[in-house]
Amino acid sequence: MSRTGLALRALSLWIHGASADPTPDYDIASPTYDDYFTSVMGPHSVSLLDRVRISPGDAVVELACGTGHLTEEIVRRLDGRGRLAVVDKSPGMLAVARGKVAHRPGLELSFAEGDMEDFLRRQPTDSADLVVIGWAICYSQPVRLLRDVRRVLREGGQVAVIETRSTALSTLREAFEQVVADDPSMLTSLIRVSLPKSEQVLGKWFRKAGLDPVILDQGAQELPIASVAEAMDWVERSGAGAGFRDSFDISREEEIRARLGEALEEYRREHGALGLRHTFVLGVARHRVARATPGAASSGATEPRGTAPDAAAPDAAA
Ligand SMILES: C[S@@+](CC[C@H](N)C(=O)[O-])C[C@H]1O[C@@H](n2cnc3c(N)ncnc32)[C@H](O)[C@@H]1O
Repeated sequence: MSRTGLALRALSLWIHGASADPTPDYDIASPTYDDYFTSVMGPHSVSLLDRVRISPGDAVVELACGTGHLTEEIVRRLDGRGRLAVVDKSPGMLAVARGKVAHRPGLELSFAEGDMEDFLRRQPTDSADLVVIGWAICYSQPVRLLRDVRRVLREGGQVAVIETRSTALSTLREAFEQVVADDPSMLTSLIRVSLPKSEQVLGKWFRKAGLDPVILDQGAQELPIASVAEAMDWVERSGAGAGFRDSFDISREEEIRARLGEALEEYRREHGALGLRHTFVLGVARHRVARATPGAASSGATEPRGTAPDAAAPDAAA
């Protein structure tokens, strides 16, 4: 079957609104996620928190907390005072997160299971100093989500986002594409993720939502994967293949795995290595502080540390 066949299949699924839910795969990956994803990408997530202001007493919202790697870090920085409300859709991921953080009397800590957009809609207006979204804005309509983030943030409050770029792990993506191009009937729904091409795209999302970007950056991490077997392991255990179970005809799981392995092996033979590189963007934006009128009291807002993006940089397309 050709790529045209795949395109037609994808179009038909798109028309029928068949979107894959990543939750079953995250539930399965939850016991191994930290050993695979967090141990390699976690330091980059923490570097995002190093670039925002979190003070004891702050009110923080974390969307899609996963296994709670960032949750733990936020709790440490709040130092027993303030409020932290987190949400995730996967019961498995949430259970790991719950086990990581100890409740402290001065800290109001709540874990919710559910969709982050619904959760955010229930948060009061002007109620948060910081909203954190680690590796999950892709599961939303980013501008719509960020508009609601802006509503929830207090004046001068910040949102911090880290996300995989659309260029990441191209070897894996191409191998998946080859497998479904060979037999589009394997595809039962579409994995719809909004991955930014560059940090400029993240900046564009911020601005469209009425937020002022104060840090826009990018990075890359080579994955410690040499063999096809390790790559297959990574896909399942790190959550990188999230959406797979709901988007492929799972009754043909063994066949799909075998074909994916073959496609990766072919790539490795041709290129001498799998070259799995996880490229990502990170950004911090601020709910604009109303300009002080001469003689009015200062808002007290402080400039976060980091590199201010070039305000004149053109917005790249997603
Ligand atoms: C790649 S993990 C990131 C987890 C964590 N933030 C971290 O930094 O490791 C993506 C998480 O997003 C969650 N997720 C995906 N779609 C979601 C949604 N619509 N609402 C809430 N959580 C969602 C998944 O269950 C998963 O735990």
